[in-house]
Amino acid sequence: MSDRKILITSALPYANGPIHLGHLVEYIQTDIWSRFQKQRGNQCYYVCADDTHGTPIMLKADREGIKPEDLIAQVGQEHLSDFNEFNIQFDNYHSTHSAENKHFSSLIYERLRDEGHITSRSITQAYDPVKEMFLPDRFIKGDCPKCDAKEQYGDNCEVCGATYSHTELKNAISAVSGEKPIEKDSVHYFFKLADFNDMLKTWTTTEGHLQTEVSNKLAEWLEDGLKEWDISRDAPYFGFEIPDAPGKYFYVWLDAPIGYMASFKNFCTKQNLDFDEFWAKDSNTELYHFIGKDIIYFHALFWPAMLNGAGFRTPSAVFAHGFLTVNGEKMSKSRGTFIKARTYLDHLNPEYLRYYFAAKLSAGVDDIDLNFEDFSQRVNSDLVGKVVNIASRCSGFIKKRFDGQLSAHCSEPELFQQFIVANEEIAALYEAREYGKAMREIMALADKANQYIDEKKPWLIAKEEGKDQELHDICSMGINLFRLLIAYLKPVLPQLALESEDFLNIPEQVWPSASEPLTNHIIKPFKALMTRVDETKVAAIVEESKENLAKISELAVKKFEPISDEIEFDDFAKIDFRIAKIIKAEHVKGADKLLQLTVDIGDETRNVFAGIKSAYNPEDLQGKLTVVVANLKPRKMKFGISEGMVLAAGPGGKDLWVLHPDDGAVAGMRVK
Ligand code: MSP
Ligand code: ZN
Repeated sequence: MSDRKILITSALPYANGPIHLGHLVEYIQTDIWSRFQKQRGNQCYYVCADDTHGTPIMLKADREGIKPEDLIAQVGQEHLSDFNEFNIQFDNYHSTHSAENKHFSSLIYERLRDEGHITSRSITQAYDPVKEMFLPDRFIKGDCPKCDAKEQYGDNCEVCGATYSHTELKNAISAVSGEKPIEKDSVHYFFKLADFNDMLKTWTTTEGHLQTEVSNKLAEWLEDGLKEWDISRDAPYFGFEIPDAPGKYFYVWLDAPIGYMASFKNFCTKQNLDFDEFWAKDSNTELYHFIGKDIIYFHALFWPAMLNGAGFRTPSAVFAHGFLTVNGEKMSKSRGTFIKARTYLDHLNPEYLRYYFAAKLSAGVDDIDLNFEDFSQRVNSDLVGKVVNIASRCSGFIKKRFDGQLSAHCSEPELFQQFIVANEEIAALYEAREYGKAMREIMALADKANQYIDEKKPWLIAKEEGKDQELHDICSMGINLFRLLIAYLKPVLPQLALESEDFLNIPEQVWPSASEPLTNHIIKPFKALMTRVDETKVAAIVEESKENLAKISELAVKKFEPISDEIEFDDFAKIDFRIAKIIKAEHVKGADKLLQLTVDIGDETRNVFAGIKSAYNPEDLQGKLTVVVANLKPRKMKFGISEGMVLAAGPGGKDLWVLHPDDGAVAGMRVK
């Protein structure tokens, strides 16, 4: 049993946002499997990393006025502490922006190139002439060519579902600068995926590599024919420069899966392990990737082809899971169901969620739903009402009447044996990732243990004379059954298991395939191992996750209070309000409140510092019209001279709204 060598990965989370409950479906699913394999005595490693490259991360750092290296370091820390607190136990957590990843990305690229699997040619793409960068589709916005819906992305319309090329988009603008994109040519590098057509047909249909529904989907894609994959991007790009192509960078999805290798390499160096044993073409070890169903194409086509073409082993299997919905719907910010890991951790025990997800997970790719009523009900009835209850019912008598010591013999060897025999079925379910079924098996055993106690009624026997031995046996039996239940739940509930092991006064439990009952053993006094879900906490999580529109309007609609005495019309007429076009908006180095705006007020431009950084990203202002006071005496500030004032409403902080004129107004118009 213990001769398996297993390397497990979860998909690498993007370093441009926080971990949310959707992500956690995957990390919890993988962690349970990894902990299960370890508990079985297998040599198993679980590695992951932050996925740090690409345009969105580069632009986000830009908006925040920091270097991408600093952004990814900070987000990496946040991700890791979220994972730690959810008891996700990585053996190594690395970054794709690492020396190891650069090494393997270049190596794989060079091997593919030398085997003739890379080609290059010039293509035409949208280009932002102001920001001087090529624009991915999601950074182009405009009106849908089919239904005219405003503010749609460059490749598809969220209103009518149409897909199109960004050149068809009406009134297209760059979301980065607000400028109209132009078309520009540039040389790109491509991976000739079709070279691997036969290899992929075999790999994707070999039993065990993929779930049936996934394999069927891939057969359709393979039938349609494999296109060349564009693996390069032009500067400016946050990523690795392609070795023989200065100014060209690897597309983020080229180096992301290589990040699995890089993280493991980093681990091997620290632990003195043999990297090649796991990655060489002839490796006998097992390699599994847990992923969401949205990234199957990358993991089941590109990745095996890249590995094969570069002379490495291919995965033993890719396990895809479905998406998390909350209360039956896609996670939504306005409904308060887009819940960050951190928000959850601020209120509830992470093990509740681990158990709930386990109870819902199967080996398939169906979406799973988090329903808050069901969540509380399941945790309360299964974990608190069934499992922990067994220990609390039995331990009091052991402590009070028998000095904390268990009986010298096992009074129900058959019942104990039933619990041991069940280990095989439960292990098979864990192994097959049928966690929901495994949880049902375990809860059926918990029911059995509770029935046993209900039938024996220790609370009555305790009152009868001369029945000490019977009482001792029943309660000891209960404790022994509890111990086995905890062993089975340990992959899902590591914290509960740890605290229970402490209460039982035993070392960490291995998988109980041949366990003997505890006899004459001293246990510690019982303490509450898990409490019921506090409903008010659940409500608080939802409330805190809502993008708070209501609160904002409350703040803004303050009672009218005059700010000064009445003025004459002449006083008002002295103020030269002008329509201004914001042609440039930028962060100011060292300023934490100000944005620097370059505004066009007709035939001249002005430099204006505005204290609106807390409420606006520069890219959201660029290209927009607003109103400025044009004849305000220039003010010398720490960062330069401010030659005007932008009008905005709101109390401050995030709650600030810059004024925009109605359609038709143009820069330079007087406002009166
Ligand atoms: N960076 C890529 C993965 C690169 S792997 C070489 C990525 N990152 S992600 O942050 O968007 O997602 C990380 C994982 O979380 C993916 O497997 C994704 O499918 C999963 N999930 C993200 N949102 C999810 C839900 N709402 N529900 C379930 N899983 C979800 O993709
Ligand atoms: Zn449309």
